[in-house]
Amino acid sequence: MLIKIPPRHALRESEVTDYSVYLQRREFIKKSLAMGGGIGLAATGLPAFAKLDLSGYRVAEDNPLMAELTKEKSITSYNNFYELGTDKKDPKKNAAMLKTDPWSVSIEGECEKPGVIALEDLIRPQDLEERIYRLRCVEAWSMVVPWMGVELGPLLQRFQPTSKAKYVEFTTLHDPASLPGQRFPVLDWPYVEGLRIDEAMNPLSMLVVGLYGKQLPNQNGAPLRLVVPWKYGFKSIKSIVKIRFTETQPDTSWNLSASKEYGFYSNVNPEVDHPRWSQARERRIGELRKRKTLPFNGYADQVAALYSGMDLKRNF
Ligand code: MTE
Repeated sequence: MLIKIPPRHALRESEVTDYSVYLQRREFIKKSLAMGGGIGLAATGLPAFAKLDLSGYRVAEDNPLMAELTKEKSITSYNNFYELGTDKKDPKKNAAMLKTDPWSVSIEGECEKPGVIALEDLIRPQDLEERIYRLRCVEAWSMVVPWMGVELGPLLQRFQPTSKAKYVEFTTLHDPASLPGQRFPVLDWPYVEGLRIDEAMNPLSMLVVGLYGKQLPNQNGAPLRLVVPWKYGFKSIKSIVKIRFTETQPDTSWNLSASKEYGFYSNVNPEVDHPRWSQARERRIGELRKRKTLPFNGYADQVAALYSGMDLKRNF
């Protein structure tokens, strides 16, 4: 008897279904927004979200990257989130330990309106939009992800940063019960990251609450993470509980851990190798071939001016 073995590259039924549901949902949202909005996903028969209303987000306009999206299954099962384990498969396995509801974010430092704000007040449904960005990890793999979130700059402006606010520092939840990796001294917990204020205000910077039109899975940094597409993936800190405006450059976890390997800026730069491997090429998850890595991850038009006059080999 002959058994039909599908070729290894063939898409499995579940993957095809997932993607087509996503496309249908996008089309539906696009149409309902064009008609004046207001129709939530609940009306499609898809589950409504618990607290954050993600139903009316604007979908990414005709974006050539739409044709290159990494499979949802890969994005949500191959993760770096050391608080949920150091193996790529660990974050998904341990995801249920992270409790994200209720969630609030403390806004601190050099601003006129500091305070603790509930996630559902921080992320306003009318500001939600989908953006398709390349994510380039420092480990030389990459993905193309349909993120859903809000632009970081206008959100920060609501807290009225003072003229002393030169940087923004972000901090991940510190709770070893929820994030068991924090029981081990892999990094100096909690995970911290930072941006210069003009980087934070750049229109590409985003605070993310969803992907593939759904609420962000825990392993991807629920309920709130940063996405800075022209920098290596480790700058995109997950599960944020604190945002602090500072006058001086904040510490960052990977710089504290290995300062010769990870600088503050960490802009994607094919010309500056990591001391232990080349950064010239990358492998897209789901592909065998390697592609050339682009300066600033392909976003040079929008961000190179932020660094004019700077030696990017020294400021890596
Ligand atoms: N944020 C926290 N708190 N802890 C982490 O270990 N890993 C970083 C970044 N944010 C990390 C983190 C790294 S190295 C990468 S490449 C991205 O998250 C991966 O995001 P993804 O799992 O959604 O692909």
